[in-house]
Amino acid sequence: MRLYIAGHRGLVGSALMRAAVGTGAEVLTRTRAELDLLDAAAVRKFYVETQPTHVIVAAAKVGGIKANNDFPVEFLLENLTIQNNLIAGAYDAGVRKLLFLGSSCIYPKFAPQPIREDSLLTGALEPTNEPYAIAKIAGIKLCQAYRRQYGADFISAMPTNLYGPHDNFDPLTSHVLPALIGKFHRAKQAGASSVTLWGSGTPRREFLHVDDLARACYLLLERYESPEPINVGTGEDVTIRELADLVRAAVGFEGEIAWDATQPDGTPRKLLDVSRLKELGWQPQVALPDGIAAAYQWYLDNVPAQ
Ligand SMILES: NC(=O)c1ccc[n+]([C@@H]2O[C@H](COP(=O)([O-])OP(=O)(O)OC[C@H]3O[C@@H](n4cnc5c(N)ncnc54)[C@H](OP(=O)(O)O)[C@@H]3O)[C@@H](O)[C@H]2O)c1
Repeated sequence: MRLYIAGHRGLVGSALMRAAVGTGAEVLTRTRAELDLLDAAAVRKFYVETQPTHVIVAAAKVGGIKANNDFPVEFLLENLTIQNNLIAGAYDAGVRKLLFLGSSCIYPKFAPQPIREDSLLTGALEPTNEPYAIAKIAGIKLCQAYRRQYGADFISAMPTNLYGPHDNFDPLTSHVLPALIGKFHRAKQAGASSVTLWGSGTPRREFLHVDDLARACYLLLERYESPEPINVGTGEDVTIRELADLVRAAVGFEGEIAWDATQPDGTPRKLLDVSRLKELGWQPQVALPDGIAAAYQWYLDNVPAQ
């Protein structure tokens, strides 16, 4: 396998790099400075020159609610362009297998829980990240179209909320788990007696360590050949209150947690149905408390000016 990992420096891409060790794959990478994935001609030239047999599309414009709200044009257009260049270019260069990574935000806002893959396009999306989700849905459809029209073995996987090394810990733009790590750490450093968190703490969410996602991706490259997208998650969720307690324990913050219930909670539950993936023999290996402890250690070692 001559594998091109697009986006190898990101949260997912760097986990794919770690997990590639021992697979026997010859891995190809390019930084953004070396290859701008928005440039179709450059992507084609790269494919012709390097001839990968396999591609994982882990490059995307990714962001939190505020960035998605403020820059809908970039989230729609850049994601469509990056994935179109990578998917169409791969077919034209004779790539044998391609894995496109989407996200659980492709599913309708009020999809029945746990969310099955066949919920796709059965209802309205969450409005805040609709442009991003529409781009991801277009990526799934493009892979399906290449399979139907040309027999290409292009597949799509939809991961749940991810966390791990190389996560975004910026307090303004980070997702909930890295945001909690930063918040409890700063409170511990300041000797604060309490930390206030938004909402009631009752919504339920699912968290997958990114190394487990990476293992799932290699399994899918080997064993999954269906046009239908496949969910990747643990199949288990926790309340935000339980998550906060786990992070507080990992960080060693001994103060109280106060809940500001005047702030919005969001969807009460978001959990993926992962039976399709489990049928392939996959199980997550990183327990949430261990994964959080490791993520905190990575934060201490790598995030400056905490
Ligand atoms: N994070 C999550 O919780 C989560 C959950 C579900 C699904 N996913 C999916 O997983 C995929 C990867 O997400 P991530 O969290 O790993 O994102 P990330 O950390 O932001 O990484 C994205 C990567 O894409 C690269 N990239 C973006 N635009 C590029 C361009 N024009 N040219 C070249 N490279 C470009 C970035 O390069 P630079 O290093 O130069 O910026 C970066 O390496 C996305 O499709 C996302 O939807 C993520």
